[in-house]
Amino acid sequence: MSENFMYDGGTVSVIGLGHMGTRLAQAFLAGGVSTTVWNRTAAKADALAARGAKRATTVAEAVSSASVVVVCLPEYDTVRALLEPVGPDLAGRVLVNLTSGTPESARLMSRWAADHGAGYLDGAAMSGTRLVGGPDALFVFSGAAEAFAGHRTTLVSLGNAVHLGDDPGLAAVYDTALFGLAWGALAGFYHALSLVGVEDVDPAAFAEVAAGHMPYVTSLMTDHARQVQQDRYPADDGTVQVHAAAMQHLVDASLAGGLRTDVPELMRSLLERAEAAGHGADGMAAVARTIRYGAQRVRD
Ligand SMILES: NC(=O)c1ccc[n+]([C@@H]2O[C@H](COP(=O)([O-])OP(=O)(O)OC[C@H]3O[C@@H](n4cnc5c(N)ncnc54)[C@H](OP(=O)(O)O)[C@@H]3O)[C@@H](O)[C@H]2O)c1
Repeated sequence: MSENFMYDGGTVSVIGLGHMGTRLAQAFLAGGVSTTVWNRTAAKADALAARGAKRATTVAEAVSSASVVVVCLPEYDTVRALLEPVGPDLAGRVLVNLTSGTPESARLMSRWAADHGAGYLDGAAMSGTRLVGGPDALFVFSGAAEAFAGHRTTLVSLGNAVHLGDDPGLAAVYDTALFGLAWGALAGFYHALSLVGVEDVDPAAFAEVAAGHMPYVTSLMTDHARQVQQDRYPADDGTVQVHAAAMQHLVDASLAGGLRTDVPELMRSLLERAEAAGHGADGMAAVARTIRYGAQRVRD
């Protein structure tokens, strides 16, 4: 482990006490981590101070109070503007940036931190604010493995802290990919709720059955990721053709119920494109291939 960074653990500063930053600070406090907080609007630190957080009156004081400096602000430009004047104070500390952004902005920020002698971890909070501090709150981090390992015990106060790799851009890559995954799943769920609603099914009762169905769906992810890796799409879970026909039933049932059909039509168009690209008799994960390479590229 590098001698250049402080690995004393247990001291963190949180800069930015918006919806997310406040939850982060609460989770560190609940995890027994000595926590200093700073926010532009100082009053937002009141409740945290009442729970034992130390207040910093300046950003410089916040930075110099801890070995781990967590920032959670709306944009990278804001982070940079706020930290630029205190760059030298970051030397020997690890900057953990939980602000949402692009992979390139994360890589730039990492270089900026390195130029100031600081370690850098880029991070993304994947479970909104509601799970923060519990074991199901997923936080992904990327950047130097030793910076993560050195502060893992602090970062696990936030939840399930996963290190993705040394490239600081990876957290942003996963952030956008997982955001799209969650929205795809929720779009399917909202359509499903609307469809069963036509038949007066209780939404909560449906949600319970739907949640019980999810382990099957997640098992498909594992298998289909392997198929994509091998570029082989066995039809173990039904062919593209079979799924396209089933999706047509969903479109028809939705039309009969007077629903908008944009969600099932998107899925149907993905399957039709895979069929047109020569994957009709392949498994449904062939859809991933046509998303990546386009409809015209027929399987070798
Ligand atoms: N909220 C979520 O569920 C969630 C989930 C995942 C990721 N995130 C990410 O977390 C980051 C923060 O989100 P949030 O929901 O916490 O935002 P938010 O509630 O709008 O809070 C924004 C924070 O940034 C501060 N701020 C804004 N401009 C500033 C400036 N020029 N100088 C200093 N401080 C400034 C605000 O200070 P004031 O109090 O003084 O206005 C406030 O503390 C974003 O990148 C977001 O994408 C949020």
